[in-house]
Amino acid sequence: MPVPLLKLTNVNKSFGPIDVLHGISLEIFAGETLCLLGDNGAGKSTLIKILSGVHKPTTGAVEMDGAPLAFDSPRDAAERGIATVHQFGGTFPLMSIGRSFFVGAEPTRRVGPLRVFDRKTANETAVRAVRKLGITRIDDGDRLVGGLSGGERQALAIARAVHFGAKVLILDEPTAALGVKEAAHVLRIVLQARQSGIAVVFITHNVVHALTVGDHFAVLIRGAKAADFRKGEKSREEITDLMAGGEHMAELEAEIEGFNAAAGQAPEAVR
Ligand SMILES: Nc1ncnc2c1ncn2[C@@H]1O[C@H](COP(=O)(O)OP(=O)(O)O)[C@@H](O)[C@H]1O
Ligand SMILES: [Mg+2]
Repeated sequence: MPVPLLKLTNVNKSFGPIDVLHGISLEIFAGETLCLLGDNGAGKSTLIKILSGVHKPTTGAVEMDGAPLAFDSPRDAAERGIATVHQFGGTFPLMSIGRSFFVGAEPTRRVGPLRVFDRKTANETAVRAVRKLGITRIDDGDRLVGGLSGGERQALAIARAVHFGAKVLILDEPTAALGVKEAAHVLRIVLQARQSGIAVVFITHNVVHALTVGDHFAVLIRGAKAADFRKGEKSREEITDLMAGGEHMAELEAEIEGFNAAAGQAPEAVR
């Protein structure tokens, strides 16, 4: 068995009195996509914020390449090669494409005693990296990130992670706000990143998107891992049922029955 790139053992996370994650154990391997599935509020974002140095686990262990890991900040995680694209963009709308590509790693050139941001090199590098992923509509690094479509922004963020040699790429709901065509494009880029040997953690509540890119799947329900399986082990229907959770379905059925009963008693009022 290969050593997992990242390994979580019995991770719990509480915010004050609120327990958000319960006993999560997970393994993430290079060259594989782990899909983290779960309904809104299941704890997906909280879990990946632990991997990206935003939160510390309340208890439990995180290891990278077999050694214990403790991040004090997102910068620590980034320096270890963990690139995260947080939910709702996480980019800088008023920054140029070239500038945003190099945030925290600006290429500089000497002008007398000063080192200044090398705009031309930054723009060319960013545009080239994005084009490598098949996005040819981005041809001017001076354009503002805010003018890009949702899919182009995701592509830019993924290109950045690949360019700077990320080992792990975490994408929090990258396809949630996209149309079908744009989502398909982002999924293709995710496959490309994974093919280059990166470990991808792909968060979604869309089972079809997950099945398109995933090698390995974990389902979170109310902060606990409800299932963990590999590609081909469960059907789309089984995964959808799992995510809905048996209890939830029973509640829904009871509610529908209630509506039906009300409709039967007071037909005029309801129809
Ligand atoms: N900083 C926080 N303080 C308190 N509660 C939080 C915090 N962050 C998340 N939560 C709670 O944790 C639960 C899981 O949230 P989140 O991880 O964002 O879920 P998901 O990404 O799966 O939709 C939610 O009930 C949310 O309100
Ligand atoms: Mg979330």
